[in-house]
Amino acid sequence: MGDRKRLTLHALRDYHARGEKLAARTCYDASFARLLDNAGVDILQVGDSLGMVVEGNATTLAVAMDTMVHHTAAVARGNTTAWIIADMPFGSYHESEAQALHNAVRLMQAGAHMVKLEGGSWVAPTIRFLVERGIAVCGHVGFTPQAVHALGGYRIQGRSAEGAAQLITDASAVAQAGAEMLVLELVPSSLAAELTATIGIPVIGIGAGSACSGQVLVLYDMLGMTHGTVPRFVRNFMVDAGSIAEAVGRYVADVKAGRFPDDHVHGY
Ligand code: KIV
Repeated sequence: MGDRKRLTLHALRDYHARGEKLAARTCYDASFARLLDNAGVDILQVGDSLGMVVEGNATTLAVAMDTMVHHTAAVARGNTTAWIIADMPFGSYHESEAQALHNAVRLMQAGAHMVKLEGGSWVAPTIRFLVERGIAVCGHVGFTPQAVHALGGYRIQGRSAEGAAQLITDASAVAQAGAEMLVLELVPSSLAAELTATIGIPVIGIGAGSACSGQVLVLYDMLGMTHGTVPRFVRNFMVDAGSIAEAVGRYVADVKAGRFPDDHVHGY
């Protein structure tokens, strides 16, 4: 991205304080890291969605730690200025704080700037343990793909009054434990707006409406390569774009200008 300086946590906090939307994308390799960074994407998320879109599995559950380290290192080699978040895969932080630290260190040493853990109150002590040891953490609440079977499939979370209250409790626990960012997946846009306005850290939405502090999409979804049913929150940015770089540029521009998502079409 031309003359853009390397994004730091302070810079991202400043964006948030100014009300500038954050454009995030999943990314799994060096070539796309270079392209997305050049197109002005703020955050490259090495998502464990790679288990589905790269490895061809039905869920993210089978992703190995070694695989996340491999892809994080590739993204870090291609990237120059964007902020890199690496997902901690299923089972890599569930046993103990020591296990979580060991695996988070591997991702940081591969080039991540921040690690992401799925879950609410139960994972807050682990987040605090990592934060106290100098590791920046992103939380992930709402629909959490690693719990897909326990949640009964791909369902919107926080629809009932009890569900919404639980979601707010979980998000607050994660923020109070020291998480500096939160991914909010598949929740009603009114609840996402309330959380974003009150939680005090940037909320990156996916299927959570336009009021979030930023948006993330799975890279292949925005390139029109969704396998199977296209989720309602996805927009194919390749339509009318002459190249992948142009599509990504449009995504960044639309997120920054609040044109994506359009709550009438892409929200809940
Ligand atoms: O793994 C992933 O792709 C995610 C999404 C929320 C972007 O976590």
